[in-house]
Amino acid sequence: MTPSEKLHAHHEKLIGTIRNLADRAAADPAESSLLVPYCSEYLVAHAEAEEVTLYKVDEDIEFVKNMIHEHREIKHSLELISNAYEKGETPVIPSMVRNFMALLEKHFREEEETLMPRLSRTISQENLETLIVEAHQIEAEKKKADLWNLFEFDHKRIDICVDRLRRSVGEMESARKLYSVSRARLLKHIELEETVLFAAFGEHAEAGQMGPVQVMIAEHREITSLIGASSDSVDEKALPSLVDTLIGKLAVHNKKEELILYPLINRSMPRGEREKVFKVCFGGFASV
Ligand SMILES: [Fe+2]
Ligand SMILES: [Fe+2]
Ligand SMILES: [Fe+2]
Ligand SMILES: [Fe+2]
Repeated sequence: MTPSEKLHAHHEKLIGTIRNLADRAAADPAESSLLVPYCSEYLVAHAEAEEVTLYKVDEDIEFVKNMIHEHREIKHSLELISNAYEKGETPVIPSMVRNFMALLEKHFREEEETLMPRLSRTISQENLETLIVEAHQIEAEKKKADLWNLFEFDHKRIDICVDRLRRSVGEMESARKLYSVSRARLLKHIELEETVLFAAFGEHAEAGQMGPVQVMIAEHREITSLIGASSDSVDEKALPSLVDTLIGKLAVHNKKEELILYPLINRSMPRGEREKVFKVCFGGFASV
């Protein structure tokens, strides 16, 4: 593969997942919760790595300035989506996501169609090859592997789902569907916490740090016993109070994880380990 083909392949890999997440977010704004942590993890590191490698050797200063400006714009556009999501302003999200995608696709095109052909003319293939390798290394080092961010966004995604469920009570058909989706996402979240996140943390935790984990696991059992029944067997009359109890329990449980456990995990686990956990858990969340 030539250096240009390598960059193209790398862009395709990034944008393939992002496009998929953006489509989901456009169809249902609640899904943008997965777009934000994915892009913060993979896209931001990619941009930062390019700025100190490929962009540095380009002779067209104005072009480089503009490309760096586009990085800022893309990052800003992602922040707008994240803020709208946090404020619950979901109706504006689809157009924000479209704008974000347009910026990103344009930017990648400029790198592949303008930057790389020019670099191929001005520096040797060998040097360009070295730069691409260096860019990949820097990108890997810049990844934050922020598990706190990832898990917190999944909490929000589940919250929206449960909130819709609460509002649909009385309309059994849609309530059943929403119950089924909320239940699947919540069970997946708990499963990944216990079998992947907490398990990996356990390998690095110091004495006493597993105490909060044990408390979280005990609370998981309370939550899973609440949503033990599948959507077909859930009782219409019992649903409103079940949902209210669930919302109450989740609010307390999630706060504890977000304020204490996730920051502790981010601090205590080595980045390489967190990266592995991020990959597995992101895949798991996206599957339900
Ligand atoms: Fe870029
Ligand atoms: Fe790029
Ligand atoms: Fe949990
Ligand atoms: Fe959680």
